[in-house]
Amino acid sequence: MAARAWWRDGVLYQLYPRSFADSDGDGTGDLRGIIDHLDHLAWLGIDGLWLNPTFPSPNADWGFDVADFRDVHPDLGTLADLEDLISAAGERGIRVLLDLVPNHTSDEHPWFVDARGDRAAPHRDWYVWRDPGPGGAPPNNWVSIFGGPAWEPDAATGQSYLHMFHRKQPDLNWWNDAVRAEFEAILDFWYDRGVAGFRIDVAHGIVKDRDLRDNPPVREDDPPSLRRLGQRLEYSMNRPEVHDVLRAWKRLGGRRESPPMLLGETFVPDIDTLATFYGDGTDELDLAFNFPFLDVGLDARAAAAVVAEVEAKLPEGAWPSWTISNHDSVRFPTRWAAGDDRRVRLALMLLLTLRGTPILYYGDEIGMREAEVPADRVRDPVGLRDGSDEPGRDGARTPMPWTDAPGAGFTAAGIEPWLPFGDLAVNVAAQRADAGSVLHLVRDLIALRRADDALHAGSYTPLDAPAGAWAYRRGDRAAVALNLSDAGVVVPGLTGRVEIGTDRARDGEALEGSVALGPWEGVVAIT
Ligand code: GLC
Repeated sequence: MAARAWWRDGVLYQLYPRSFADSDGDGTGDLRGIIDHLDHLAWLGIDGLWLNPTFPSPNADWGFDVADFRDVHPDLGTLADLEDLISAAGERGIRVLLDLVPNHTSDEHPWFVDARGDRAAPHRDWYVWRDPGPGGAPPNNWVSIFGGPAWEPDAATGQSYLHMFHRKQPDLNWWNDAVRAEFEAILDFWYDRGVAGFRIDVAHGIVKDRDLRDNPPVREDDPPSLRRLGQRLEYSMNRPEVHDVLRAWKRLGGRRESPPMLLGETFVPDIDTLATFYGDGTDELDLAFNFPFLDVGLDARAAAAVVAEVEAKLPEGAWPSWTISNHDSVRFPTRWAAGDDRRVRLALMLLLTLRGTPILYYGDEIGMREAEVPADRVRDPVGLRDGSDEPGRDGARTPMPWTDAPGAGFTAAGIEPWLPFGDLAVNVAAQRADAGSVLHLVRDLIALRRADDALHAGSYTPLDAPAGAWAYRRGDRAAVALNLSDAGVVVPGLTGRVEIGTDRARDGEALEGSVALGPWEGVVAIT
């Protein structure tokens, strides 16, 4: 058997660099701050670190509007700091992934500044330009994911440019070979500096329909995220040609001695479409984000159905990934668990025992809740948009609470952080001192997963379980039973020893053919 890639057996950790740790007391997290806290991640047992965008950016969308793909945002540090981070992480066995944003650039990127000046400019065709429709109407019916038309009229040349997100994020034209070549050079630039791969922003959406055909209206059974837009993104995203780009990137990395990994943001509504981003199982993305799972919640039947579909539909050789929080969603302890610690613990047990690579979001390991962000502190363009009633995504991006002291161990005492702190009672130091904490549960689950190949590599086989419960076997030796309900249940078919219970008092218990679980309780047993 071919050697298993590090990211298959490991656990990934996403962090938002502005909010992890502030080393210079300006209220904004930075790369030196991350270096200072690598021991936390090593102690936790993390194998790979994905940093949300680190590039220079005017921050119309907090780094997702890139002004230079080959440098570091001065708020976060320097290229040398990033290289130091890569080597300091490497010393602890942790690899670093960057967040590549190929769908668009900032309107302040020199390519766009050039493009918008003149219809004959060298970079004009790097973006998507069209004449306005009759009466100055937008060129087609596409809407921006952030709301409003996806077209911005530009007075200098009388044409409109496409932006699927903010108007300060003009979309690149992926039909242009120069754009493709430039991004391959950007990937190589970072691989040469020791980056172990990329999370690819909007990986499903970078190539647009060549004829820019109108999108069809939504249907009643479409997920809420689409219904909100009023249209299916049939021609503006998820075009068949995107797979050519992903295959080319996979080939490019495959030439390296340690092939980098590609983790794609595949915001697609169903598992059939998700499966296509793995190509033949070996020639496109290594991991694709599973948004249907993130959306389904702690519902035993519905979540097990998503897992069963993944098990059935991913091509041979492909490997699933699982996420329950990220920088675009309400944190799972609030969204899935309504602040109930039992559910928080159960969700983490689920995340860390499925077949596939778990991706933790910073703060998940302590059950960090969504923070309240007062209206005058909102920074996210989604929350700032005129006429929108959406709160925005800031509540999931607030500073990591390392302690409950002034500054929270995130920044110096008395400094106001760039986003307000959430509840400091939930913090790393307190949980580290408490063997029964969420933090220790997560660390112990990661350690067990690493130690036992049934848990990191074994097959997934669902077991019979009463309504509200979910049980599965991993490989030949491990079994997981989760009670996702308010009533006690007895799950049959479990023997062996409870290695870890969400109630730690059960660790070590011998099981003789079944396990009784209280509401929102779970166990991992090994025979
Ligand atoms: C992705 C990112 C999101 C960003 C958008 C535009 O969905 O996850 O944070 O706003 O792309 O780059």
